[in-house]
Amino acid sequence: MANPLYRKHIISIPDFTREELELVVETAGRLKAAPRHDLLAGKVVASCFFEPSTRTRLSFETSIQRLGGTVIGFADGANTSAKKGETLADTIRIISSYTDAVVMRHPQEGAARLASEFSAVPVINGGDGANQHPSQTLLDLFTIKESQGRLENLALAFVGDLKYGRTVHSLTQALSLFNCHFYFVAPEVLAMPDYICEELDERGISYTLASSLEEVIPQVDILYMTRIQRERFDEAEFKQIQGQYILKAEMLNHARPNMKVMHPLPRVDEIEVAVDDTPHAYYFEQARNGVFARQALLALVLNETV
Ligand code: CP
Repeated sequence: MANPLYRKHIISIPDFTREELELVVETAGRLKAAPRHDLLAGKVVASCFFEPSTRTRLSFETSIQRLGGTVIGFADGANTSAKKGETLADTIRIISSYTDAVVMRHPQEGAARLASEFSAVPVINGGDGANQHPSQTLLDLFTIKESQGRLENLALAFVGDLKYGRTVHSLTQALSLFNCHFYFVAPEVLAMPDYICEELDERGISYTLASSLEEVIPQVDILYMTRIQRERFDEAEFKQIQGQYILKAEMLNHARPNMKVMHPLPRVDEIEVAVDDTPHAYYFEQARNGVFARQALLALVLNETV
């Protein structure tokens, strides 16, 4: 039987069922335990990054090559004919006529959905503005399952920029399918968007708005830190909110033994380097897991059975 993600566009986490999320997590676990080198043999995948990236682009490109596929693409949209005024629709029409799938990051919200409407092959959203980052959510789910042994009935705190942080939007939506409790810890100007809280309210999912990081730490299984995204503010606004939530090693003294600190990275100053040496630090393993989760996603989108 064909897997349900075969030939699907991967645009947004609300497009996934719980079973589809579990399928990607389970497949990532299998590929981490027993690497495969054949699942993309003969496939060409485009890696189209109109916005800067280290982890997403390079882990997708690593995944494609480790699975036996070939990658083409660009790391800067300024080197493409978009610079001459070509529309995204035309760019994607052309690239999708050369390839078997298109991985794309773009600064505009909705760009991946638009691209999928003009693409002859599956489009995988590598982040669109402040909107969605589904492959990050899949690697986050895999990392949570790996570190906690389950996805159900966990307590998670999301800390920092919850307004513009697309990773926390996608992850909250995904974990809302698994009966988790959320703590949202953010300055008022960077609070979780109303539409996410309303989705949780409609579905009867419990969450707590909190201002003290210290008070929340002992109550959670996962502490998910985020960067204040300087590029989304003017300098005066940024200075007002900079440095409000900084995780220090001594703040972890009362954490649960199983508690893991995650961060989509890059970090700036929101996690002190001393935290790296505590048993709670899990963000570098999380970033490494990006390869396995993205291998799983590509393998499922491009193969009827995996
Ligand atoms: N986590 C993440 O999306 O990192 P990059 O911006 O480096 O891809």
